[in-house]
This record gives sequence, C-alpha cells and structure tokens, in this order.
Amino acid sequence: MQATATPGAPDRAIRGPAITFTGDAFAHGVEDTLVYEPDAIVAMGGGLVTHFGPADAILPELPPGIDIHDYGPDALISAGFIDTHVHFPQVPMIGAFGEGLLEWLERYSYPTERRFADKAFASTVARVFLAECLRNGVTTSCVYCTVHPESVDALFEEAQRLGLRLAAGKLLMNRHAPEDLLDTARSGYDDSKALIERWHGQDRLMYAISPRFAPTSTAEQLAAAGELWREFPDCYLQTHLSETPGEIEWVRQLFSERAGYLDVYDHAGLCGPRALFGHGIHLSEPELGRLHDCGAAIAHCPTSNAFLGSGALDLFRAVNQERPVNVGIGTDLGAGTSFSILQTLSEAYQAARVHGQALTAGEAFYLATRGSARAMCLEDRVGHIAPGMEADLVVLDMKSTPLVTHRMAFVDSLEEALFVQITLGDDRAVQATWVAGQLRHQRP
Ligand code: GUN
Ligand code: ZN
Repeated sequence: MQATATPGAPDRAIRGPAITFTGDAFAHGVEDTLVYEPDAIVAMGGGLVTHFGPADAILPELPPGIDIHDYGPDALISAGFIDTHVHFPQVPMIGAFGEGLLEWLERYSYPTERRFADKAFASTVARVFLAECLRNGVTTSCVYCTVHPESVDALFEEAQRLGLRLAAGKLLMNRHAPEDLLDTARSGYDDSKALIERWHGQDRLMYAISPRFAPTSTAEQLAAAGELWREFPDCYLQTHLSETPGEIEWVRQLFSERAGYLDVYDHAGLCGPRALFGHGIHLSEPELGRLHDCGAAIAHCPTSNAFLGSGALDLFRAVNQERPVNVGIGTDLGAGTSFSILQTLSEAYQAARVHGQALTAGEAFYLATRGSARAMCLEDRVGHIAPGMEADLVVLDMKSTPLVTHRMAFVDSLEEALFVQITLGDDRAVQATWVAGQLRHQRP
C-alpha cells in the first residue's frame, strides 16, 4: 500500500540499522516482507519520512549540512510501536492483586475510573500515560477513557501537544456498573457526538466510539452506538469480546435472542473496518469468519489474558489464511502488566505456545508495527518506514543491559537478535522515540 502524502524537503535524518515490513508477514511470510538495512538513513521533514534506504544511496540525495543523528551499529530503527487496546484510566491501578475479570472490574477498575470525573486528575494521569508510552516506543494507541467526557479531553489535549496519532473515546456504559459511572443511551450518544465534533480529525487525533462491553450496555445503547458510527463511519469502534467464559455466559443470558457474543454487536451495526475487538479468545469458527468478512480486527492482549487468567488467544487460528482476521497487539493496561511492547510480544509468543505454535520474532515485530497499523486501517500512514509515511519511529538499543549485551555476542541471525530483544528487552531497550519527525523521548 502506498503512503498518501507527498513528502517535502528533509530537515533532519537518523542513521543506523533498520527494519521494516513491505507487506503482510502472515500472508506472504517474513522472508518476503521484512526488509533489513544494516546501515540505513531515515530522513524526515514536515512530519513525514522523506527518504529511507541504504546510507550509501541516500546520503548524496540529502541537502548539504543536514543534521544526521547516527545511532551506531548497536541500534535498530523501526516504525514506532502501535498499541491497539489500552485503558489509560487504569494506570493508577496496574498490578492490582489477582482476580478474574468481573471481580477485578468491580473491585479495582470502577473505583479508580470514578476519579476521572475530576479533569485535573485525568490530565495528570494522561501525562504519565503518554510519557510512559513514549518511553516504550509506542507512537500510536487506541485508548479507552472513562465514561466522563473530561477524561477524553484530558487525553486528547496531551496527545495533541505531543503531536501523536492517537484514537480514543469515552466509555459507553449504562448498566451493571456503579450508579455514578453510568451514562444513558441518550447522554452517551450525545456526549460521544460532541467529542467527535470537537476532536475527530484535529491534527492526528481520531475518535473511537467505545461501548465498554455488551454486559454494561443495553441493546438500546449498542444500537445508539451503531447509529453514531453510521453517522461518522471513519471513526473507530472499540469494545471487548469473548475474553472470559464467565463473561460469555453472562452475555448469553442477557442477550438470549442473539446467536452469540459477536452477533450482539453485529446486530447493533458494530462490525466493520475500524472495529477493534479486544481479546476474542474464545470465538467460534463462524465468529472468526464474520470478523474476516466484515474487515474488523482483534486486539491481542497477552499480558492481560495471562494476568487475569482469561485464556490464551490462538493467534495462528485467527490469522489462518483461509479466512484471515486482522490482529493487532494490545497492552490492555491496567489488566495488562507492561507498557513494554517487547514484553507484550514475549507473552504473545508464550500464548501461541499454549496452542502448540511459535510466533517468530519477525512475525512479532510485524504484529507490533504494520500488523497493528493494518488492524487500525492506518497502513497508509504509520506502521512501516517509507517516503510519505508519517515519521513515527522507535530506536532500539540492541545491547540495553549487561545480560542482553552478553547474549547478543552469541546470536548468529537477525531473527535470533530480534527474539532476544523480545525475550529479555523492556523499556531500557528503547533509546529514542520520534513522533512526526520530532524527538519525543531520549533515554537518559
Ligand atoms: N471488559 C470490560 N471492561 C474491561 C476492562 O476494563 N478490562 C478488561 N481486560 N476487560 C474488560
Ligand atoms: Zn480492555
């Protein structure tokens, strides 16, 4: 897919080893889609990548005197990581002691989310959240806020200040939660619409219509969400789907007239491109087929699934090329346990092992970059490095700790080097994060 924008002149560049993907690594194989450039230049201007390729070829094309930051041979430049499912209001309660999903929501999530009625509190957490994303090389996220519109304003204000491409939305939740966290079908629709009109398409910000999950919305509220999405079809739709057996059984009781969990959303008009369904662990074959047909995506959240004991997504079943479903990676904080995409990919590998499969490092890096961009229908803007793409980049340090440095002395392939980063790396491996051509994080 070609980038849509035409880049202008570069005003800065970075140099070092680089990887990127030219297409779908699950469909066409890592061998045919991963590009590794041992000494690359990425030049940027006007927020876009203007040049990308081997230093020998690119250097003569750059204006004389341009600032080139050389990260050296132990770096790895990649497209910035994309987190397709995360709850910023749950950052103050990450690591709350173990419970299953429904008890965990009642005991930890709802009391914390209540505090976001206070805009100042929401702004403080939004700053911490986005700083932590940048420290982990995450340049785009799809974010759940709380039921309070102020929480969305707080996050978008900070994301706009940082120049981030980010999707977010207010929770829609009109039942089965504490009274003071509920909206109504009408107020949820009205508040979401006002937020869309205020924020969607401002700079790089995008709105995500966000019914929390079927148990906390009436059929009337889900239908109102569907109506809103029809009015604003280039917004996202995010919700949770088939995360735990107890939740699935609850949905079956609440919506006994529907064929299954996905059908509850489908009936309300909530299936299509730009629909991001969190988890999708326990889906039936017809449900996976429907996700494929409608162009929706699953946000795979392995650290959260392990933490809550929800199960393990069978990733290779989801992306089965006979009816591939788009899959992106998600941290799902605060049920997820790490902002680090490297750590999250390591747990995605472990989730695949539960099903007798193995996620290669190449596939994992695809999942965190171009695969997640594809899941968000953003493949023409972010997720890979090419002229005209938005200049969102992460620069890894491939020797970030004494142990990683020791281990790297024994690797004999790029795949092995990348796998070591996933298994042993974390925020310490992120030495710089660039957002729209601006340096937004530099590891001290
Ligand atoms: N299902 C509904 N709400 C949530 C949430 O906040 N976190 C997770 N992991 N699952 C959910
Ligand atoms: Zn979630």
